[in-house]
Amino acid sequence: MKLSVNVDHVATLREARGGLEPDPVTAAHIAEIAGADGIVCHLREDRRHIKDRDLKLLRETIKTKLDLEMAATEEMIKIAIQTHPELVTLVPERRLERTTERGLNVVEQVSFLSDVVSEFHKHNIKVSLFVDPIPDQVEASAKTGADFIEIHTGEYANAKDEKTQLEELNKIKEMAKLAHQLGLRVNAGHGLNYLNVIPITKIPEIEELSIGHAIVARAIFVGFERAVREMVKIVKGI
Ligand code: PXP
Repeated sequence: MKLSVNVDHVATLREARGGLEPDPVTAAHIAEIAGADGIVCHLREDRRHIKDRDLKLLRETIKTKLDLEMAATEEMIKIAIQTHPELVTLVPERRLERTTERGLNVVEQVSFLSDVVSEFHKHNIKVSLFVDPIPDQVEASAKTGADFIEIHTGEYANAKDEKTQLEELNKIKEMAKLAHQLGLRVNAGHGLNYLNVIPITKIPEIEELSIGHAIVARAIFVGFERAVREMVKIVKGI
């Protein structure tokens, strides 16, 4: 399994002081040196962490691949086409949320999302839809022509007891299988840490995980390179 490292939280820390440090671009370089397979960043409408400058520099300097998380708005679609990431992951975005709280409601916007997907395909950019592990959402995702879904692992990660966690894990397993049967490729992420990621790494249909917060949190104590290396080892089972 592959690991893409989300560097948003490095930018969040920088924005706490509004200066230049710590720089998410430096974090991306270190993550690559430590074995990450890709870098993820989320350019939000309010630019609360990642800025246009970061995205431009990440695009110029990343040697693995760039996954741009974004809302499917006119502004972001334009920026994504100019930036040309290897993958665009479409997420719902609400100004007041602390982080992306739920998956896209694909069922209610199949036709709109199909148009967005084909616009990106025209520019040779692959598209992933961030969805909750719900059959209707996965089936609707396949109808849009998207290349990937990213299964939202937040409910699993935040489960308060073992029984709920197991139920959520089973949903993720089943939806990964369903997506694969429907011809979708499968990524997963949100809320994964050094412990709860282990069962997720055993799901054969999942190609790649997108992890940010747990890595940045650990990096404060052990350093960014070591924090990434440790997660790479777990995700790759080495
Ligand atoms: N995937 C998506 C679509 C996200 O929005 C986020 C959070 O930015 C992540 C993965 C990573 O989540 P975390 O920071 O909890 O690892």
